[in-house]
Parts: sequence; C-alpha cells; structure tokens
Amino acid sequence: MKLSLTSFAPLGLALALFAHVAPAAESSGKSSELNKVCPVSGKPVNPKITLVYEGQTYAFAEDACRTKWKAARESSLYHKLGGKPAIDAAVEAFYVKVLADKRIKHFFEDINMNKQRQKQKEFLSAAFGGPNPWTGKDMRKAHANLPGLNETHFNAVAENLQQTLVDLKIKPELIAQVMAIAASTKNDVLNRPKDAK
Ligand code: HEM
Repeated sequence: MKLSLTSFAPLGLALALFAHVAPAAESSGKSSELNKVCPVSGKPVNPKITLVYEGQTYAFAEDACRTKWKAARESSLYHKLGGKPAIDAAVEAFYVKVLADKRIKHFFEDINMNKQRQKQKEFLSAAFGGPNPWTGKDMRKAHANLPGLNETHFNAVAENLQQTLVDLKIKPELIAQVMAIAASTKNDVLNRPKDAK
C-alpha cells in the first residue's frame, strides 16, 4: 500500500533532528530507483511497503518503520518551513546576500556556486529533518582549507541566513530553530574543539 504525505503535524525538536545529519549508510532515496535499505532500521526493504514524499517513493523494511519515518517528516522543521521549494528559495536568496557581503564574499571567489548552492540545500534540508540524509563532507573537512576563517565570518554568514528568513517572512519561532541549528555547526565550521564557547 502506498501512502502520501499531505498534512503538517505537531512540533518536533529541531536539534534532535540535527542527528539526521550524518553521512548515512542507507540509500538516500534520491534516484528514481527504490532504495534498498530501510532508512529507519537499516534492514533490506520490502518493496511493497512504500511512502511517497515530495514526489519521491521511499521503501521500508516494515510498516512500523514507515509510520515512524512519516511522523518524523511531518513534525520536522523542514516540513514546517515549507519543504523543498522553501529551502531551495531560501538558499538561493541567502547566497545572493553572501556574495554581496564584503566581509565574506572573498571566501567564495574560486568556488563553483551552482554546486555550492546545491550542497547547501542538501545539507540544510537534512539538518532540518528533510527526507534525505547528508552524504557530503563533514563540516570540519568542508571548511578546513579556508585560511583566516574566524568567528566574525561565521557570524556574518549567520546574520545573512537570519535576514534571508526574515525577508521570506518565516515565523520567528522557526527562524530561532534554524539559527540554533546553524549555531550548532560553529565549532566544526571553525575547526575549533567541540566544546569551545
Ligand atoms: C552555518 C554555518 C555553515 C554551514 C551550515 C555551511 C555549510 C557548508 C556546506 C554544506 C558546504 C559543502 C560541503 C561539501 O563540499 O560537501 C560548505 C562549503 C563551503 N563553505 Fe560553508 N557553511 C557554513 C559556514 C561557512 C562560513 C562562515 C564560510 C565563510 C565565510 C563558509 C564558506 C564555505 C566555502 C568557501 C565552502 C566551499 C569549500 C570548498 O569547496 O572547498 N561556510 N559549507
């Protein structure tokens, strides 16, 4: 039986959802082929137990996995922000600001911005509890070769992200959740000890 996700559900914990951001062993469900590994249990899927989310079909090992996965999606910050179209629009607008910001634009001079926008969409989608895990670089590795990168730069990026969400008229309580998630990446992005303040 196939189910379709159409409705929004009660609040989930944004930071708990951040646990979703880990290079995952399971199939991301991104291709048109059905994933072979259950995103909940890690077991082989039963191709009859599926769910369509944002036009993509995901398969699960058991009914209980599908129920759990569906609840996680419905309560996610990703879903509340408006899903893929909303995240995509936010990231596009965010990089317009970043590339116009004299404090930080030099970091992106030699970067392929089409790829960067795509990666950021995928990273933030996963961080906000979207359907697909982040399979790119961890944040320490991704920012390890940016000479001089410091907290001032991090704060400038965070400021641009926040202003983007304000411009898009995202509810303040959702912006606060996004900013908490962004802040949780700070020590990794700056390659500082995990517990640095
Ligand atoms: C909330 C904080 C940040 C997040 C979530 C974030 C996220 C990301 C992601 C997902 C990537 C791509 C990783 C990959 O290739 O797999 C990336 C790369 C990059 N980020 Fe960030 N970033 C943050 C802060 C910053 C800051 C503060 C700067 C500089 C001002 C910066 C500059 C860059 C650059 C230049 C790259 C490309 C590196 C390369 O391709 O060699 N990021 N970031």
